[in-house]
Amino acid sequence: MIRRSGFILLLALLLVPTAQADPSAIQRGAYLFALGGCASCHTDSDNGGEPLAGGLAMPTPFGTFYTPNISADPQQGIGAWSNADFIRAMRRGISPEDEHYYPAFPYTAYSLMSDAELHDLKAYLDSQPASAVPSKAHQLNFPFRYRSLLALWKWLYLDGQRFSPDPNRSEQWNRGAYIVNGPGHCVECHSPRTLLGGLDSDHLLEGTPDGPDGETVPGLTAASNPEFGQWLDEDIQFALETGMMLNGDFFSGTMGKVVDNSTSQLSEADRAAIAVYLKSFAKPPQ
Ligand code: HEC
Ligand code: HEC
Repeated sequence: MIRRSGFILLLALLLVPTAQADPSAIQRGAYLFALGGCASCHTDSDNGGEPLAGGLAMPTPFGTFYTPNISADPQQGIGAWSNADFIRAMRRGISPEDEHYYPAFPYTAYSLMSDAELHDLKAYLDSQPASAVPSKAHQLNFPFRYRSLLALWKWLYLDGQRFSPDPNRSEQWNRGAYIVNGPGHCVECHSPRTLLGGLDSDHLLEGTPDGPDGETVPGLTAASNPEFGQWLDEDIQFALETGMMLNGDFFSGTMGKVVDNSTSQLSEADRAAIAVYLKSFAKPPQ
């Protein structure tokens, strides 16, 4: 009896196809990785950090966050995670150990992504080299060390819904809205925040003097930034592709990284959709 069940088990193991990711999923995932600008935070390129090994210091009013290793390493990275673990992290900001993530990880924006997209993104991450560099602990001020407090924050600021297109707008406009508010997470830097660090939903994309690294981030609506209101669609597309602004200067600081790791790698069609959306009106759909 024992021998027979052993044999059946062996047979079952031989018959189960080895988990091999589909190459087109990896390719779609690579595009989503650029769209999400993951490398801007999870690769500390300025300090020669290994790809996806994290370690980037993010100073904030709450203390300094260090981005974790999200490479395929099963111990130090997320190589051992299931797709379900990954979706829960990206969408609900919850770790496999059931702890809340800080919104320094912009899951509020990534939560708009579909299951299929997140599966592809995970397939891409799994296909990349593993790095065994351990993640660093955050250095946060009291009382922000307590992750349990984040339950309240999420209740206030995490909507958790997928993107729902506005049927009164074009497909192109909706694609732009999806990128800006979703994976491109433009809204996360280009909007003011409340005292609790949530996006100020009455002033989305209106710019802020208190952006990441203490930078001033300009508004992306004509009302909040009349100079930007003069940019034509093609000026926006050109800047997102090359990093050069209408006045001939190149983006500095974090926007330079956004262009390098994200918008310069997108399709013309996606840059055009972003431009159409930004030029269309002041506020994203709610
Ligand atoms: C603005 C910076 C930033 C960007 C962009 C960003 N992340 Fe993160 N990410 C973080 C920070 C900070 C944390 C740690 C959060 C915490 O400890 O609560 C994190 C945590 C994570 C985790 C959890 C890792 C773990 O060990 O528990 C995953 C998975 C993750 N990010 C994936 C991604 C992916 C995929 C992208 C691109 C689609 C991305 N991140 C883009 C900052 C960022
Ligand atoms: C990590 C923060 C961050 C993210 C994410 C971000 N930006 Fe920016 N952006 C900035 C900063 C900072 C500047 C100012 C750069 C400068 O003047 O050198 C800027 C400038 C710009 C400008 C020029 C506006 C002007 O009037 O000068 C445009 C256009 C722009 N961003 C579009 C986008 C789009 C589209 C996205 C999403 C794909 C995006 N940004 C995501 C930080 C960010």
